[in-house]
Amino acid sequence: MTDLATMRESALTRIEEAQDAAALESLRVELLGKQGSISGLMKTLGKMSPEERQSEAPKIQGLRSDVADAIAAKKDALDAAELERRLASETLDLTLPEPQSPKGSVHPVSQVMDELAEIFADLGFSVATGPEIEDDWHNFTALNMAETHPARAMHDTFYFPDVDSEGRRMLLRTHTSPVQIRSMVKQGAPIRIIAPGRVYRSDSDATHTPMFHQVEGLVIDKDINLGHLKWTLETFLKAFFERDDIVLRLRPSYFPFTEPSVEVDVGWQDVNGRRVLGGDGDAPGHGWMELLGSGMVNRRVIEFAGLDPDEWQGFAFGVGVDRLAMLKYGMDDLRAFFDGDQRWLDHYGFSPFDQPTLSAGVGASA
Ligand code: PHE
Repeated sequence: MTDLATMRESALTRIEEAQDAAALESLRVELLGKQGSISGLMKTLGKMSPEERQSEAPKIQGLRSDVADAIAAKKDALDAAELERRLASETLDLTLPEPQSPKGSVHPVSQVMDELAEIFADLGFSVATGPEIEDDWHNFTALNMAETHPARAMHDTFYFPDVDSEGRRMLLRTHTSPVQIRSMVKQGAPIRIIAPGRVYRSDSDATHTPMFHQVEGLVIDKDINLGHLKWTLETFLKAFFERDDIVLRLRPSYFPFTEPSVEVDVGWQDVNGRRVLGGDGDAPGHGWMELLGSGMVNRRVIEFAGLDPDEWQGFAFGVGVDRLAMLKYGMDDLRAFFDGDQRWLDHYGFSPFDQPTLSAGVGASA
């Protein structure tokens, strides 16, 4: 009898004094576990006489349930205290300034590509892509540059060392024009696409990097003429540079994949020693800057891509995206685009919130 009273008292005191969940758990095992002391008491019931058992059983069971209740209550108390402690240590004072953490930015090339997609989407163009590792046929042959064509030499092509099972040598595409072929082969006509992406040429100085970006434009439809090309480029450049006074000068040129071919210059004016696009390039203090190559798609190219050139005509153009970015946002060294210098990225990068929209003007505010 006294034994039970002492056991109860000592058990309850020890439960009350348990410091943490682990100590409480080992106490539970010690008292109520299979080998525990109170469980041991339960086992003695079997050996008792029925009368003895009748008087002892309720006391022992009472002890067991009191101890179990005390442990459960203590566990709740410890859990609550732990939660309090964590809440106290994890408070966030919203009146303090934000912690300084590294911030990313959108590269001007990506920003300009988004602007281009936005402008051309409004004109009904979708965005097409093609592989950067191209085969000779798509990059040259189907664009009317046969194996012996001198224009191939001007492209400073990076070739892969091995030939494939069909004897083809793969290369890094030298322009986005192979996407013209891929789009015509894949979707037939009519077509209205732009194809922005990386291109590669073995060339490196202040204005040339071995990898740079172009955007290709292609329209294939019925009765397309040079006027459509001029209007499209004018509309695009006015929207892109956000000026109504963009003036184009079209000059005869040569590309194997367009006929006739047209080089497009844009008029600029001198503003405090800086060349700013806009205005008639022939006016005093003004000039012309060569900006892009274009032309009516050569009928041989339309044939190569599996379409009938008597039924389908179109125009194509290609522009350097990096150059567009430099002209619009005022960078002067192309190499810095690809150095990954954090200071340059902080200065010229855009906030992800600066999504180009036509309604707000495609230009970003950074
Ligand atoms: N692919 C040409 C280049 O890289 C540009 C171009 C594209 C010209 C489409 C005409 C038509 O220089």
